[in-house]
Amino acid sequence: MLKIQIPATSANLGAGFDSLGLAVNLYNYVSLEQSDEVLISSSDGSVVPTGKDNLIYSSAEYLFNECGKKLEGLKIIQENNIPMTRGLGSSSACIIAGIYGANIMLGTPFNTDELVNIASKLEGHPDNTTPALLGGIVTAVCENGNVYWVKQEIYRHLNFYAVVPSFELSTSMARNALPETVSHMDARFNLSRAALFSSSLLQGKFENIRVAVNDKLHQPYRMKLIPNADKVFDKAYDLGSYGTYISGAGPTIMSIVSAENKLFESEMRTFLDTIGLSDWKIYKLSIDNSGARVVF
Ligand code: HSE
Repeated sequence: MLKIQIPATSANLGAGFDSLGLAVNLYNYVSLEQSDEVLISSSDGSVVPTGKDNLIYSSAEYLFNECGKKLEGLKIIQENNIPMTRGLGSSSACIIAGIYGANIMLGTPFNTDELVNIASKLEGHPDNTTPALLGGIVTAVCENGNVYWVKQEIYRHLNFYAVVPSFELSTSMARNALPETVSHMDARFNLSRAALFSSSLLQGKFENIRVAVNDKLHQPYRMKLIPNADKVFDKAYDLGSYGTYISGAGPTIMSIVSAENKLFESEMRTFLDTIGLSDWKIYKLSIDNSGARVVF
């Protein structure tokens, strides 16, 4: 079977709503091979859709259809390590697994740009799917169905601490919480900060990050859907976070922290336990610069 490793992703990075995202070293694994039937299972005990509505299957089928080929069936075994519906790109990982795997099965008819475009179309925005495919930190803009993207690799000594709540928050609910229109002032607030983010991270100007992750387009509205998020933000900054933001549509809260900071995780754990959030998890992560790939 073909086995693919796909990284978790953290989108928006504060101000870069629907356009910035990065890949981290937490992986789903998907093994797949062509079959006469649809045979879908998980090796980790997680409950996954077992029909053609499975996102890995439907994404693979989309690619076959684009080539004018009929997909009769697939055997898929999923190993899910990325928490689902938590803002860490679990659905993007499925889309990338499906199209990346199908592309190999079909003899690689699609190049990277085409896969980026297809993934964005299937997900609806490119900020998770593009880093899930390519790794690194990605700036991606979709115009007329084409994604214009830049991937940059990051080799700074940073950790990304994902504080993952015990509850799910669907992307559709988190998008429905946003206003239809925003003021010119709020738009200016965001675009200046989104522009500041990537270059500051790349050049090691970490003192800029706390300003760069501020945002007026989505986080103020989504904070209301994540009880206690404000306390976690405050604690993260007390513990020396360079920048803390809602990962993707939430509810995960991500903190960018110096790798020299040895106390962040234990102090945050103690804090969560003290305020009654023992069932929230902390993942200590770092950048994945490789993206989706075949493993053996
Ligand atoms: N940019 C998206 C959002 C990411 O914030 O809704 C979630 O898929």
